[in-house]
Amino acid sequence: FVFEQIFTPNPEAEKPTPIRPRKGVIIGVGQVGMACAYSLLIQDCFDELILQDVAKEKVEGEVMDLLHGMPFLPPTELKGGTVADEGKDADIVIITAGAAQKPGETRLDLVGKNVNIFRHILEDVVKYCPNSILLIVSNPVDIMTYVTLKITGFSSSRVMGSGTVLDTARLRSLIGKKLNIDSRSVHAYIMGEHGDSEFPVWSMANIGGAKIIPETWDSLSQNDKDELDSLFNQVRNAAYEIIKLKGYTSYAIGLAVTDIVKAIIRSQERILTVSTLINGLYGIQDICLSIPTVVNERGVLKTVNLSLNETEKNQLLNSAKVLQEVYEQLQL
Ligand code: NAD
Ligand code: LAC
Repeated sequence: FVFEQIFTPNPEAEKPTPIRPRKGVIIGVGQVGMACAYSLLIQDCFDELILQDVAKEKVEGEVMDLLHGMPFLPPTELKGGTVADEGKDADIVIITAGAAQKPGETRLDLVGKNVNIFRHILEDVVKYCPNSILLIVSNPVDIMTYVTLKITGFSSSRVMGSGTVLDTARLRSLIGKKLNIDSRSVHAYIMGEHGDSEFPVWSMANIGGAKIIPETWDSLSQNDKDELDSLFNQVRNAAYEIIKLKGYTSYAIGLAVTDIVKAIIRSQERILTVSTLINGLYGIQDICLSIPTVVNERGVLKTVNLSLNETEKNQLLNSAKVLQEVYEQLQL
């Protein structure tokens, strides 16, 4: 064959390599899964990336399309497959499969459909990727993270949801734009449920150390309160607005997922508002929601002990209550 004369093989290279390639699987390659795939590829996160979906032709088409872009990128072995074959023993499994919100639907409206889909998917994940870290993106993400923990029996360090990483980015982006400051230098968090009960931690939000609220919320002028409320409402309603305008959200969540993946595979010890199991904080028991959390190669390493003010504590407890009410209807 004409290509054979291009190389002289090294027989010693038959020995198994001591360096294990980093392998990721994305389950669900719809709008969100593909935005994740594209962002993970261009940021050189995995050595092998497997795309899995029940829509086999879609997987085939997506893989072909991305493969044609490989000459522009650092190499990643990209394939269609499943956790049971090509994706076996993956380091990270990202789950974006399932129903997405239609205009007007809330994230919590998706719970029944997505729990059923997860039962099916997770059986193979447990069997074929027993040591993986699971990153849940499908909505309602806090519930699906909890469901994943219960179904897989994995330790809580190895199951996390994208949580309010996206909402935190939305807030930082809006504040950065308003002040004409790089949004990476805006230190502000959205905590709680990734959904309607989420809240901004204004008491600690700062830019270069300068607090956004220098004293208390009550000491602010009405104009300032209105402006901060309006910023937060834009964050909370962002998904509804975008879904109304373009039908789905994708790019920002793809970038958020990539940031979380990098924190894991490069063991960055980054503080991210992933959704994680809370047991004890402010009396919250056995609920997955977002608080600032240190993420590294072990997954969820530790959570940050924040001194929330009374309003924020109540907002966190309210998110926990909203999620608890959904758990009570789940039959796991
Ligand atoms: P989509 O409809 O475009 O894609 C969903 C994909 O899941 C489809 O390709 C479908 O074939 C696949 N799928 C369904 N059942 C499957 C199964 N058993 N195994 C493998 N694949 C299966 O939807 P989307 O816009 O990509 O959204 C996906 C999910 O992500 C939704 O639940 C959405 O609400 C959620 N989402 C979460 C965030 C976040 O911040 N956490 C952001 C955006 C979207
Ligand atoms: C988001 C999704 C829909 O973009 O949860 O916030």
